[in-house]
Amino acid sequence: MVARIRSAVVVQTMSSFVFLIGVTTLHTQGSATEGAAAPTTQTGQAAATAPPGRVDVGAAIYRKVGCFQCHVNEAQGGANGPKLGPDPVPFTRFTQYVRRPTGDMPPYSEKVLSAQDMADIYAFVRARPRPPAVSAIPLLAQ
Ligand code: HEC
Repeated sequence: MVARIRSAVVVQTMSSFVFLIGVTTLHTQGSATEGAAAPTTQTGQAAATAPPGRVDVGAAIYRKVGCFQCHVNEAQGGANGPKLGPDPVPFTRFTQYVRRPTGDMPPYSEKVLSAQDMADIYAFVRARPRPPAVSAIPLLAQ
């Protein structure tokens, strides 16, 4: 009984610790980009082709049409679908796949998700927080 309580406390302490590292890392990343010459969150090829989208609207659509059921709340992937963000495939491929998937994923036609809906979902997926590097988590980096 004591051992069980003790291990519960250890697990809880560990998860708070990992959470804190995540918050600290995000904070550091945020302030590192604040003074940058080109303050943009868009990078690489995805930025070149992605239309403007609204992160909060995308989040709502992502939940409403059920993407979260397989790709999980933060698009991090799970047992039923792969990770989508924060570095998704280029927008054109992203949309093509959602319209005409070739595997286990159900298709979403333009009637269900408009082009603007796709842009909003894409913005949401790209804005997901980046996990801390494994090397930044002492418990995992040994
Ligand atoms: C029923 C589960 C399920 C739902 C719901 C679902 N997906 Fe998927 N998705 C998958 C699976 C599984 C794959 C991997 C390929 C396959 O089997 O189709 C995938 C693949 C993808 C890919 C391709 C990723 C790549 O690397 O090429 C994209 C993009 C995607 N999903 C976006 C979405 C979006 C956006 C939604 C909501 C509109 C959604 N999915 C809803 C299961 C799902």
